[in-house]
Amino acid sequence: MEQSRKSMVTFGLNGKAALVTGAASGIGFASAKMLLESGAKVALNFLPDDPRGPKAVAELQTIGKAIAAPGDVADPVSAERMISNAVSEFGGLDLLVNNAGAPGVKEPIPATRLDLVTEELWDTLLQVNLVSVFRCSRAAASALKASKGAIVNVASTAAIDARGSTIPYAAAKAGVVTLTRNFARALSPEVRVNAVAPGFIDSTWINWPEETRRDATEKALLKRAIQPAEIAEVIVYLGFGASMITGTTVLVDGGLLA
Ligand code: NAI
Repeated sequence: MEQSRKSMVTFGLNGKAALVTGAASGIGFASAKMLLESGAKVALNFLPDDPRGPKAVAELQTIGKAIAAPGDVADPVSAERMISNAVSEFGGLDLLVNNAGAPGVKEPIPATRLDLVTEELWDTLLQVNLVSVFRCSRAAASALKASKGAIVNVASTAAIDARGSTIPYAAAKAGVVTLTRNFARALSPEVRVNAVAPGFIDSTWINWPEETRRDATEKALLKRAIQPAEIAEVIVYLGFGASMITGTTVLVDGGLLA
């Protein structure tokens, strides 16, 4: 029932071009799909060795103009090349969705286990979840200024309340919230820059311990996990509606933090 939840929101996006990072699965895939269903052209970024990437592109090409944009957003050369290829192929860009991210661990590291938080884990989590957002946004900035476009970043409720999250992951997502405000300043007045902060999504993202799963749904006012499409519709709205919203992070957490 919840899997088939459909968005009631549609946009007329014919002629618009979007790039979604981490689009082979989850929120990224749902966002790319929704953008295509609204008529936009979409470049799907995925890790070059991820077999789900070409499959996602092939599936979405049945809806509209979907192209592959393989590249590692944690690597400056790969990320910048990926953005510039997509911009050239589309002849411009109207929306960049910085969605790619990684938890770095199979299960979240409890806050008390400081011994498990290594320097390597810090480096990995900051690169993939935070610096990636900076480098992709900077690489896309001139195309987005030219089109008077938008950026939507995917943060997390971990940015605000890190309980249950690995410390460097939460710090990286808090950085995304700050970066969102700073990029809104840096690219104004042409480009709007916002973020969405999802709560608990029942996805393949990480092996949440059973207790965390139960807690996250019981504590949420709406009493269930979020579906990726429910984040995607806010991303599409922030990207192409929301004409006077910039520098903001919108919580989409089913009332978890409330
Ligand atoms: P997901 O694991 O399905 O999506 C993440 C995608 O990013 C994957 O396709 C992955 O291969 C890709 N990716 C990872 N590293 C990459 C790299 N270096 N270059 C390019 N692509 C890379 O999980 P989900 O839930 O869709 O996550 C999307 C975003 O939502 C992430 O930024 C995550 O931090 C955020 N989020 C997820 C929550 C959840 O409960 N699942 C809660 C709050 C935020």
